[in-house]
Amino acid sequence: MRIQRLGVIGAGTMGAGIGALAASAGVPVVLLDVPATDGDPGSTARKGLDRQLKSRPPAFMDPERAALIRTGNTRDDLKLLGDCDLVIEAIVEQLGPKKDLYSRLEAVLAPHAIVASNTSGIPMKLLVEGRSRGFRERFLGLHFFNPPRYLHLLEIIAAPNTSDAAIDAARAFCERTLGKGTIRAKDVPGFVANRLGVYGMVLALRMLDEFDFTIDEVDAITGPVLARAKSATFRTADLTGLDVLNHVASELTRATGEDFELPDWVKQLVTRGSLGEKSGAGFYRRIGKEIQTLDRKSLDYAPRKPVASADLDAMAKLSLPERFARVRDLKGKYGDFARAYLARLSHFVLERTPQIAYDIPSVDRAMEWGYAWEAGPFKQMDMLGLRYLRSAFKAAGLSEPRLLSKAFPKYYANDGTAVLRLSGKRGPVPPIDGALSVSAITGKTRVLFSNDDARLVDLGDGVACLEFRSKMNTIGAGVIAALRESLARAARDGVAGLVIGNDDPRTFTAGADLSMVAALAAKGDWRHLDTAVVEFQSCSMAIRAAPFPVVAAPFGLTLGGGCEFSLHADALQAHAELYMGLVEVGVGLIPGGGGTKELLFRFTQELAPYDEADPFDAVRRAFKLIAMATMSGSALEARKLGFLRERDGISMNRDLLIADAKRRVLALAPGYVSPTPRTIQAVGAEGFGNLQYAAWAMREAGQITDFEVKLAREVAYVLCGGDGPPRSVTEQDILDLERESFLKLLGTKETQERIAHMLKTGKPLRN
Ligand code: NAI
Repeated sequence: MRIQRLGVIGAGTMGAGIGALAASAGVPVVLLDVPATDGDPGSTARKGLDRQLKSRPPAFMDPERAALIRTGNTRDDLKLLGDCDLVIEAIVEQLGPKKDLYSRLEAVLAPHAIVASNTSGIPMKLLVEGRSRGFRERFLGLHFFNPPRYLHLLEIIAAPNTSDAAIDAARAFCERTLGKGTIRAKDVPGFVANRLGVYGMVLALRMLDEFDFTIDEVDAITGPVLARAKSATFRTADLTGLDVLNHVASELTRATGEDFELPDWVKQLVTRGSLGEKSGAGFYRRIGKEIQTLDRKSLDYAPRKPVASADLDAMAKLSLPERFARVRDLKGKYGDFARAYLARLSHFVLERTPQIAYDIPSVDRAMEWGYAWEAGPFKQMDMLGLRYLRSAFKAAGLSEPRLLSKAFPKYYANDGTAVLRLSGKRGPVPPIDGALSVSAITGKTRVLFSNDDARLVDLGDGVACLEFRSKMNTIGAGVIAALRESLARAARDGVAGLVIGNDDPRTFTAGADLSMVAALAAKGDWRHLDTAVVEFQSCSMAIRAAPFPVVAAPFGLTLGGGCEFSLHADALQAHAELYMGLVEVGVGLIPGGGGTKELLFRFTQELAPYDEADPFDAVRRAFKLIAMATMSGSALEARKLGFLRERDGISMNRDLLIADAKRRVLALAPGYVSPTPRTIQAVGAEGFGNLQYAAWAMREAGQITDFEVKLAREVAYVLCGGDGPPRSVTEQDILDLERESFLKLLGTKETQERIAHMLKTGKPLRN
């Protein structure tokens, strides 16, 4: 069965968030909540929807998609659910109201409709008590994480009679359409992620007392250094809400008999209403621009004290396996803390895993996808070393869990393909349905070419993939060389086509390698710079002219040069979370790798069907994007801005992106001919004057600086084809202007300051 229409009941944090995600994916949604008593019974659900429209970070990938959501109330509008294929219940976490609701649903739902609860802890068998056999077969748990748009994890929990068909249909919809990463969890309190995640948080909170550390110190250790989220322990708790954490922790204590109680001083914070982000203060407090940290003894705030530890700083620079190896002999109190914390948490994970999960990769995925860990707990244990772990348990007086004894020498095989099963035997790592991983490709026959910064790998079926591997996947000499080599080999070997993509979880590419540009500019080596820009531009043009289809698969940060390469591909297969832009003005430059040219030609061509259209509209559209360094907040927004065309595809699920891009290449390949060179009419002096006037007006209004007026002038000059009369221009004509402006700006003091500032701080400077 295919799920096409979704019902959601409960328009609170989770329900309305799930509705916003589904609507963003293009799914029509019915969103119901209790009738309001203010005379307008539909207002509860509508207000829930409005909150999502205002939420930060945004819940909708495109606010216009809210039109796909029909709101109503559960007294008058239950019948609207009659043509929904899946109904997700996300109402108050109480058994009684949930059961009442299900009994009413039974009367109105279509016979095939699946019903799911988003409960965080009520056992499935209690929820379905009293329901018909048919209902029970179509009932399951779908546990989303907050916020549903941004957290990849979805736990699927079968109820006692759930049919395989219901699970398969719900799973396919959640993975493919909503883009979630799913794992199967057992029907136990806290399922997998919260059982382990909340234990880890409570452990860190208590160890703060035990080691007499500050909040800043614990966060410095329990963050990225140990492969955890940047928000570490206390900032994560502030984001979750201390009341929610306290509630979940006591529920887990009650339901499991294990001790999850929070320290008294944390409970005092809850009592006095210091609940974290939502109440303005929790473990941290923001006063203007300053962040203050709570002192757990006085329960007062003081300016944040960054932890000065050369050891931790040095560790942060190491690769993940090196960091975990380093923990084993890290000196001083931070080393003691890190070792004790990892040992206790690992012990808990090993003891609980057989009770809560069906396999080890699910546990790792749960923590990576739900708690943003860089590597799950079993991968961490492998990096720590199991022999070390055995001795650490012994030294701490902890028993040796069965799951450790059976695992030597490691949980995962070195190539990551096999893993220990809970039965004690080894077996293949369960694949993610439909996923294709570039980074997992190894071996002489499949790695076709590689250098330090990039590789060309064989994706099968005659499709090759160029993978950037430099820091932040920036584009420097290595990537350029790899691109050249890839295009040449692909042409020589007669491949079906090329994908440009990778598996990095955050960044497609941060753009051109500025350090290289800065070094050449500092030396005044203009000859080399000119050659480098020519080379960049000709790479873009070579992507466009290749005799086979090239599909770029951008996701996350796709900036500057990465955006320029993507614009020259035949098609994009973008991930829904796409933060794409030509942001060069931020470093005092204009897009000089063909991006300025390509937007001009693309937008001008889009006007071609309209006889009366004014070509200046295309110029202005490109000018706005480039001069304001506009970045999309999603792939849907990138399409509205013009970085994506209607024909470009969007994948909701990051794990399926490369497979989708490969399919795109194969669809374009039969009979492929490369696009023909283009000529357009440049608007010349009149348009140039117009745009300059707009820049001056902004300067007058104090919105931009003198230097930014100069930057805007260069953007305008290129887009208008100079300041002469209107004329016919080729792509090369505009590329030449682009290059001239780029080099001219690079010679200015302001641009050099902007680049230096970006390289030093990672943030743009406005001068
Ligand atoms: P919430 O309090 O923000 O929203 C609940 C909504 O349900 C409210 O709008 C309320 O008016 C409505 N409601 C209450 N009783 C109802 C009824 N009988 N019929 C129709 N609507 C009713 O709660 P939240 O946080 O969205 O939680 C909802 C469910 O999701 C709970 O089961 C919770 O355990 C679960 N959950 C919550 C997570 C979170 O981080 N907040 C994460 C994952 C699951």
